[in-house]
Amino acid sequence: MKILKLILMIMSCMVLLVGCTENASQKQADTGAKAKSAEFVKAEGKVLVAYYSQTGTTKKAAENIQRLTGADIFEIKPADPYPAAHAPCLERQKQDIKADARPAVAGKVADMKQYKTVFVGFPVWYYQAPMVINTFLESYELEGKRIIPFCTSGGHPIDSSIVALQKSLPKVKIEGGLRVTGDENELKNWLQKYGYAQVQTNSKASVPVKLVINGKSFEAMFYDTKPAHSLLEQAPINVQLNRGRRDFCGGNLNVQYTQVDVVRGYKNGDLMYWIPGKNFVIFTNGEENSADVGELVPLGKVNGSVQDILDLGDTIEVVIKK
Ligand SMILES: Cc1cc2nc3c(=O)[nH]c(=O)nc-3n(C[C@H](O)[C@H](O)[C@H](O)COP(=O)(O)O)c2cc1C
Repeated sequence: MKILKLILMIMSCMVLLVGCTENASQKQADTGAKAKSAEFVKAEGKVLVAYYSQTGTTKKAAENIQRLTGADIFEIKPADPYPAAHAPCLERQKQDIKADARPAVAGKVADMKQYKTVFVGFPVWYYQAPMVINTFLESYELEGKRIIPFCTSGGHPIDSSIVALQKSLPKVKIEGGLRVTGDENELKNWLQKYGYAQVQTNSKASVPVKLVINGKSFEAMFYDTKPAHSLLEQAPINVQLNRGRRDFCGGNLNVQYTQVDVVRGYKNGDLMYWIPGKNFVIFTNGEENSADVGELVPLGKVNGSVQDILDLGDTIEVVIKK
């Protein structure tokens, strides 16, 4: 009987020690296909953006993806350049498709092995990628890598291009795909599905704030953003947070945000609003594996180490003061 009591006590402690972000991501994984896919994606390893562009539109998209993911970039150049004029270029693409040609690529990626993810970009030509893209992809060992295509086009979606590429690479799983339109929010939202494109919060101007935790004062800063200001307007704010594996989390906040503010992943010391629970979160551990935590709105950062906060126990009373 005593042993049974002890087991029950240990089990209830374990439940308390699981942070809110973990609890809910588990719930989501159990209840929805959308949440499930988000659970399994992780931004890890080096990233390459490889692209072909004839008139610069895809080049711009590629450079945006590079900026948002911190990737290396490689321009795919056909050894025999495509005709610049539309009609002969279209004719060549038609002939290439008919012949299932593999136009040679000039140059190679120096060390493809180092990349875990390759974004591959192209203009849609006659409903699919220029055949030089097939040549490029077929010339590397891509099995086990994540291959994510993107395109630009006069209006045609990417789907038929993916079908054609997948035929040429039966052993490689080609994921997702986006027709990039120049809408930065759309691009960011798409990249976030793969765990990329976190808002570069470090570079934002900051507002000094105080966190009084269990009576002890900690210096922090809030970003100069709408969500952070919408919360600060309500200061002083009292919240009780519970400690989990990754964070202290709790409260029921009212934060104004739009989709563009929403990020995935965190750094230890980040102060965030977690949308599903309307919670205030102080992240303390596990930044290296944080890409599976989404629906976060960055608010600010603790100045200095979070160890002093961790030392305060499993439940903390926090007052956010201007
Ligand atoms: C030969 C050729 C064929 C094209 N075929 C299509 C097409 O089938 N569907 C479409 O929406 N746009 C088509 N376009 C338009 C291009 O996909 C679009 O302008 C693209 O953004 C150009 O990218 P770039 O500037 O990186 O070369 C075609 C353009 C060319 C030159």
